[in-house]
Amino acid sequence: MRHLMNPLDFTVEELDKLFRLAQDIEKNPGKYAHACDGRILATCFYEPSTRTRLSFESAMIRLGGKVIGFSDAASSSASKGESVSDTIRVISAYADICAMRHPKEGAPMVAAERSGIPVINAGDGGHYHPTQTLTDLLTIYNLKGKLDGYTIGLCGDLKFGRTVHSLINALVRYPNIRFVFISPEELRVPDYIIEMLKDKNIPYEEVIRLEEVMPQLDLLYMTRVQKERFFNEEDYIRLKDFYILNTSKLEVAKSDMLILHPLPRVNEISVEVDDDPRAVYFKQAQYGVYVRMALILTLLQITV
Ligand code: NCD
Repeated sequence: MRHLMNPLDFTVEELDKLFRLAQDIEKNPGKYAHACDGRILATCFYEPSTRTRLSFESAMIRLGGKVIGFSDAASSSASKGESVSDTIRVISAYADICAMRHPKEGAPMVAAERSGIPVINAGDGGHYHPTQTLTDLLTIYNLKGKLDGYTIGLCGDLKFGRTVHSLINALVRYPNIRFVFISPEELRVPDYIIEMLKDKNIPYEEVIRLEEVMPQLDLLYMTRVQKERFFNEEDYIRLKDFYILNTSKLEVAKSDMLILHPLPRVNEISVEVDDDPRAVYFKQAQYGVYVRMALILTLLQITV
């Protein structure tokens, strides 16, 4: 039995297979419409979510399966003090696969150790968010045809942004990737990631101003300042509008640069940017369903 905790749980070859499956699902949805007949997905969300939970649910339903779950810790027995280990042992008897989001780093890993069914980490605190990474990689792969040879700018909350941490982790395995980290001093990428890049000799640069690096970027990954992970509101208010991407800032960007964002967006991208053909974040959310369909099939070892 396999779980997905970290994007590195899949080899580059396995990811490639997963993306090809996701592409086939997009092209031939009818072929997969009953692949999960009789199977149940449990979505155990101890933290708010729109896209991740609903795209998992949509993915399972589009595969012919059914969904149970909770979308709020307060409506689960966690509010009575139940541990994730106990919860997953019980859920293992109710469902065939589980997607879990938790505010505590590592909670889905603890659950996986006790689980009788595959567990997917749907975001653990400020740590990782592997299915968002699969979504991000599929978007790049579908729209650009390859995953190597990019200068990628990651902008915003690089300290608490779990999507950023996961994506960096996954991209270092592809040749000729260069990172440009764009953040205020207080929201820089964690040291453990910088150490990993140094160990692997992967080029990176840390800057504060987005404008100054815009012309070199092939991909720009914008992120929201993660309000829920701040210890004090004053810091959040001071930093929340540090970056606002608008059409005038994009004038110096490459004509084929992709603008990605895991969403939800707050103020960091003006709505006027949505009409720019380089803005692909809504398409990205759509690819999230296909990649989660491919992931469910892969973890349940169902071949169509
Ligand atoms: C992200 C998350 O939950 O980490 N959202 C998502 O799953 N698409 C990003 C965010 O909340 O900023």
